[in-house]
Amino acid sequence: MSAGVRYVCGECGHITMTRTGRCPSCGAWGTLAAEQPPRSGSSASAAARNVVPARMVCAVDVRPPRRIPTGIGELDRVLGGGLVPGGVVLIGGQPGIGKSTLLLQAAGQVAASGLPVLYISGEESEAQVALRASRIGAALVPGGMSDRLLLSCGTDLEGALANLSGDISFFVLDSVQSMKAEGESGWPGTLTQVRAVAQRVVDVARERNIPAVMVGHITKDGRLAGPMLLEHMVDTVLNFSGEGYSSYRMLRAMKNRYGSTDELGVFEMREDGLVPVEDKSGLYWNRSDSAVPGVAMTVALEGTTPLAAELQTLANPTVFPYPRRTARGIELNRFQLLAAVIEKRCGIPTGGHDLYMNVAGGLSIQDPSADLGACAAIASALRDAPLPAGTCWMGEVGLAGEVRPVTRLGLRLREAARLGFTSAVISSRERLERLDASLGLMPVTHLDEAIAGLLLKKRG
Ligand code: TYD
Ligand code: MG
Repeated sequence: MSAGVRYVCGECGHITMTRTGRCPSCGAWGTLAAEQPPRSGSSASAAARNVVPARMVCAVDVRPPRRIPTGIGELDRVLGGGLVPGGVVLIGGQPGIGKSTLLLQAAGQVAASGLPVLYISGEESEAQVALRASRIGAALVPGGMSDRLLLSCGTDLEGALANLSGDISFFVLDSVQSMKAEGESGWPGTLTQVRAVAQRVVDVARERNIPAVMVGHITKDGRLAGPMLLEHMVDTVLNFSGEGYSSYRMLRAMKNRYGSTDELGVFEMREDGLVPVEDKSGLYWNRSDSAVPGVAMTVALEGTTPLAAELQTLANPTVFPYPRRTARGIELNRFQLLAAVIEKRCGIPTGGHDLYMNVAGGLSIQDPSADLGACAAIASALRDAPLPAGTCWMGEVGLAGEVRPVTRLGLRLREAARLGFTSAVISSRERLERLDASLGLMPVTHLDEAIAGLLLKKRG
């Protein structure tokens, strides 16, 4: 082992000083590669080094950056309002999910707005990209794909970047794993190459003060290849995903130096490209109007997007010494805790029943405002008594059974009213005077009050 050599994992980017067969961080076998230390300059050259002048904090321009909207509302919202000049976005996702399609649409829209755009593809041929552009262009970009959209296909990074003439205002690189950086050894996709390509893209974007978006592939277990390296280098990391055989695609920011990370963008993959989904609640809510025991509605928030969610619970007399509890779409611990609160604070015994909870449509809720709806669904299932139709439930529930206010209730109520709900059960601690009253509001202080008062009579 020569002095100063370190070993870097090609899978996760972990750095270690000893060569081992297995990465101590991610556990992958045979992924550690030796890396030579950078040549350090002599002290004489250090003395001659240029000083990078420091600046007074108050002299730095802090005005918000002028953004370039991509014209795709769902993408712009997740980005925090559009692309930022000099900022680099990395978008990851499973092969075939639609990354290239999304970026080609974004590039097409920006070009159609009059700004020249360069689309670099190291994965597909000119004919393949152009065919896709003509297919989606006519349908999605007003007037078809613009002549301001330039295409460069090949894996030579410098050759592709040489097309960045003075007026190019945005570029896409598809993908970081397919390009070869100049002066670096190794095949495209190796750790050294990926790092060099990404660094070069970041440098070019900063130098020219234009935004760039790179596609990054993800590993088998769903992480971005070389995540620690890439994620630190870029300003924004987006994840594009879809479930099973669904044609819906979700776009989320995992990191965003220029905006929030809790916005959700939804698209539908159609024959002619990705189409934004405006009515997101319609995705998860099956609009059943018959009152079924164990079903409660709530409006959860994903970032600033309200989503109607249907909480379904089934309670069956148990045959096990320990009753079963399973939950999908809501955290199991939270579900068990809420069942315990119902037993203790509302006097409804839960021990004799297996309880199953499911959030319809595969939605996963982290928002604590779903507590009240979950409790209502559990109580309704245990009593085999339906909840009143047209009602939604929004409140956080504490261990004492108290019902607490939720964030942005006004926004949720507007969505509930839009979807045709007629009443909402909320915390009595909400500031009622500020809420729009198109819905009948039922303020409650304690869970017991909400449940005892609203369970309809047992059927049959
Ligand atoms: P693509 O954008 O190539 O995915 P990625 O770059 O993430 O690998 O999308 C590929 C899939 O999307 C492919 O299976 C075909 C489908 N698709 C459509 O259904 N409609 C379209 O308009 C386009 C362009 C692709
Ligand atoms: Mg692709």
